[in-house]
Amino acid sequence: MKKIWIITLFPDFFKPLLETGVAGAALRGERGQEFEMNMISLRNFSPKDFKGVDAAPFGGGAGMVMRPDVLKNSLIEGIVKPGNYGENYKEKLHIVFPNPRGKVWNNDSCKSFAQSAWSEDSKKDIVFICGRYEGIDQRFIDLYIDEEFSLGDYVLTGGEIATMAIIDSSLRFSEGVLGNRNSHEDESFQNNLLEHPQYTKPREFEGVNVPDVLLSGDHKKIAKYQHVEKIRVTKKFRPDLLIDGDHGER
Ligand SMILES: C[S@@+](CC[C@H](N)C(=O)[O-])C[C@H]1O[C@@H](n2cnc3c(N)ncnc32)[C@H](O)[C@@H]1O
Repeated sequence: MKKIWIITLFPDFFKPLLETGVAGAALRGERGQEFEMNMISLRNFSPKDFKGVDAAPFGGGAGMVMRPDVLKNSLIEGIVKPGNYGENYKEKLHIVFPNPRGKVWNNDSCKSFAQSAWSEDSKKDIVFICGRYEGIDQRFIDLYIDEEFSLGDYVLTGGEIATMAIIDSSLRFSEGVLGNRNSHEDESFQNNLLEHPQYTKPREFEGVNVPDVLLSGDHKKIAKYQHVEKIRVTKKFRPDLLIDGDHGER
């Protein structure tokens, strides 16, 4: 059983993720592997003499910063104790903080996170810390965070969407989550290529026909056509991906 703990000011953000689609089914344990996702509401862990989770930054500046003592409280009282992780809890938990300065999350991150975090062999449960305001006190990052990931070069209002993106996109690479085991093999960013255009019924739509080759039944021809299309689409939309040679262009 793999436990996922999420420390957040907004636990409700995660309800749709749990209740919907492929990721929801996986998280409910319906795709082979057993998961248990637990929301830890940060507001429940503010000190008794201080009702809040944030304070003004030392040195001045706009906005508020999440307090390290409140975050630690939520980790120890909300996760370590109820999860029975004991004194060596740091060896049993992998703590992730989505943060704009982190390593940029991409398809390779999804695969390696799936291997290291979601695999049955990995003994560690996963904790996500969702930042808000101006972020979290540096001392909590230095003392407790194992890995920081950025979704990209822009700033979200909080870490909840980043956490969901990390869970959703990496779960796809977890054994048994996608119905067709090869589904991700053919998708964008595999081998540095974008996906070829897709077509379905009807064969003719507003005067535009599906390319003949896709209706030919000739699997070799179709595969070749789709490969050439992948290269064309990648050159058009993301030429920066095509730095490693010709990708078998035939
Ligand atoms: C408003 S942001 C704080 C931004 C921070 N003051 C800065 O300039 O880097 C609040 C929280 O949203 C999350 N966040 C914002 N942008 C993100 C991104 N690009 N990738 C991952 N998490 C992000 C982080 O958890 C962050 O602590």
